[in-house]
Amino acid sequence: MGQDNMRQPLLETKGLTKYFKTKRGLLHAVDHVDLQIGEKRTLGVVGESGCGKSTLGRTILRLIEPTEGEILYKGERIEGYTPAQMREMRKKMQIIFQDPYASLNPRKTVKDLIADPLKVYKVPKEQREEIVTRIMETVGLAKRFEQVYPHELDGGRRQRIGIARALVLHPEFIVCDEPVSALDVSIQAQILNLLMDLQESHGLTYLFITHDLSVVRHISDDIMVMYLGVVVERAPSKELFANPLHPYTKELIRAIPMPDLKPEHRLSNSLRGEVSDPIEPPSRCRFAPRCNYCSEACMSRDPELRDVGGGHQVACMLYNKE
Ligand SMILES: Nc1ncnc2c1ncn2[C@@H]1O[C@H](COP(=O)(O)OP(=O)(O)O)[C@@H](O)[C@H]1O
Ligand SMILES: [Mg+2]
Repeated sequence: MGQDNMRQPLLETKGLTKYFKTKRGLLHAVDHVDLQIGEKRTLGVVGESGCGKSTLGRTILRLIEPTEGEILYKGERIEGYTPAQMREMRKKMQIIFQDPYASLNPRKTVKDLIADPLKVYKVPKEQREEIVTRIMETVGLAKRFEQVYPHELDGGRRQRIGIARALVLHPEFIVCDEPVSALDVSIQAQILNLLMDLQESHGLTYLFITHDLSVVRHISDDIMVMYLGVVVERAPSKELFANPLHPYTKELIRAIPMPDLKPEHRLSNSLRGEVSDPIEPPSRCRFAPRCNYCSEACMSRDPELRDVGGGHQVACMLYNKE
């Protein structure tokens, strides 16, 4: 983060919370998350499936209404915006989904799919044509695909449609929700490179969600690790990989092949147990049941996210010196 702390972040949340009512009780999908993303920066969000990444991204865009907390865009609170105000905001804030196929109408051609957002915002037909041609070029979709249907394309090209649709209204901020997770490894790098190039050329700010730490390593300036709805660690990307502190982060890193990882950062046992649902979680460390370093203190209260210097924060009793 460093320098970004001095400037106003493009996007910030304070105590952002989303609880879902379920038959078994209140599910704490996102629980008091504070984050800041500087302009033209990327915040990576990682954690296992079910830890609240998508809910966080969607709540920020208000595709899901927050239960509590603030969402600030350029310092302005948007969580109370009316639908009309949000409609304007949505031009600036977009989302790219994991599976573009699921979010694309199979009966529409590539050209029409990309023109959709322009129609929604009443861009005149004469202009739409030209904008679509330009954006297809930008995302690397050849003109010959204009009249084809999404099912005729491979995953990488379909994701390029998803990216084109997100980009066509000139947003500033994009939530990328597992944008390469459904793609073959060989195509993942192409899409990641495209996203990084677009960030540079269009001055974009990303919240980049993935369950795969290796994917966010190069694309993120900062990385935030989530576990059952809470942030357990956050640090500049390089720092997180060089010096992971939370036992959970260490396990995530251990799970990817990393020859340069120091032995002391490896844990003796691999992650044990299952992720539970965060339904009315008791006041204790949420990772405690799976943690090899769990002590009595971890079972009696929830560790706060604490600064350990260098823009590095961790929520773990091991670093809770007092
Ligand atoms: N609409 C919903 N109703 C009830 N529970 C939900 C809903 N959406 C998500 N959840 C629950 O919230 C938690 C976080 O889900 P999600 O944000 O999709 O996680 P991730 O994207 O990290 O896999 C999960 O336990 C999930 O089952
Ligand atoms: Mg998700």
